[in-house]
Amino acid sequence: MMHQEHRESVCNILAIETSCDETSVAIVQNGKHVLSNLVSSQIETHKAFGGVVPEVASRKHVETITLMIEQAVEQSGLTLDDVSAVAVTEGPGLVGALLVGIMAAKSVAFALDKPLIGTHHIAGHIYANNLTADIVYPALALVVSGGHTELVLLEREGQFRLIGSTRDDAVGEAYDKVARALGFPYPGGPYVDRLAMEAESAVELPRAWLEPDSYDFSLSGLKSAVLNVVNQKKMRGEEPMTAEIARGFQESVVEVLVEKAIRAVKAYDVRQLLLCGGVAVNKGLRRTLTERCEREGIELLIPPFEYCTDNAAMIGAAAYLKWKTGEFSDLRIKGDPSLSLEKWSTASIG
Ligand code: KG4
Ligand code: ZN
Repeated sequence: MMHQEHRESVCNILAIETSCDETSVAIVQNGKHVLSNLVSSQIETHKAFGGVVPEVASRKHVETITLMIEQAVEQSGLTLDDVSAVAVTEGPGLVGALLVGIMAAKSVAFALDKPLIGTHHIAGHIYANNLTADIVYPALALVVSGGHTELVLLEREGQFRLIGSTRDDAVGEAYDKVARALGFPYPGGPYVDRLAMEAESAVELPRAWLEPDSYDFSLSGLKSAVLNVVNQKKMRGEEPMTAEIARGFQESVVEVLVEKAIRAVKAYDVRQLLLCGGVAVNKGLRRTLTERCEREGIELLIPPFEYCTDNAAMIGAAAYLKWKTGEFSDLRIKGDPSLSLEKWSTASIG
């Protein structure tokens, strides 16, 4: 649906994100200025189950979403009348969780008679980089989250081309599984990261390079290798060497991510590398990638912590792309767990 007539010079997007276990509502002006960004994490609720329980996630979103919308508007200093459009994560994510945000967004958009912008969650993670810096094109994004591990080429603003992705587990998922094997609660990524940084030595683990020209990733072999080491230690009644295993795992993951990203930066001759997603807070990855980019003279953007983990401000940043092209969503949209990032690319202007 095209609604070009809705275009104003100031655009205040009310953005909603409920794709997984964070309920978040933000008001973002012109895709850049975060006027408010509220995040309510359900981690404590899901911890008892060792992972996200979809039905529980949906229920929690329902409980909090209305109040959070009110509070986000209040904290922004604006009123609902100032809202130019309503954006919501349309996918990927847990379908029941997505639907809660979508229903809320549709209701607000309908009541205010403002356009609805169904937004891609990964486009959000990528455009989180635009909230505190300016993305320069062509750019390459290394997306590392609980559900995604991808290299995405952006030849121009709003155009996404997938050049590599994981063939099995996502990085965050692998971190969580390894953490569980090492005895840590969900989500275990931060525990493994901390231990890895403290460890004095590393257990030698394999690197999944795949075919020489491939930009794809594979993490299940590494995860199995970790589980083997853990089980062997247990069977022999030896010291678990938790820290050394964490460091070995992190070194393997980081080395492959960094090498492939740098190779792609050179092959596609991009002007910036954008790191994003929940795992972008990982200290080992940030440090190695920063050092490597400095050495190679590559400009690297990494969003601040609060815009790396799931949040609605990033959805507002990505939705602004569609505001500019006037590509709005039908009020009949449903959550799409496998929404394609490439297809979500904006129409080119001019
Ligand atoms: O992007 P995100 O907030 O949610 C998804 O869209 O998936 O990412 C969450 C993931 C979890 O798997 C969590 O364990 C991982 O990010 N994570 C980390 C770290 N902090 C969070 N993984 C490695 N190191 C960390 N410091
Ligand atoms: Zn995410």
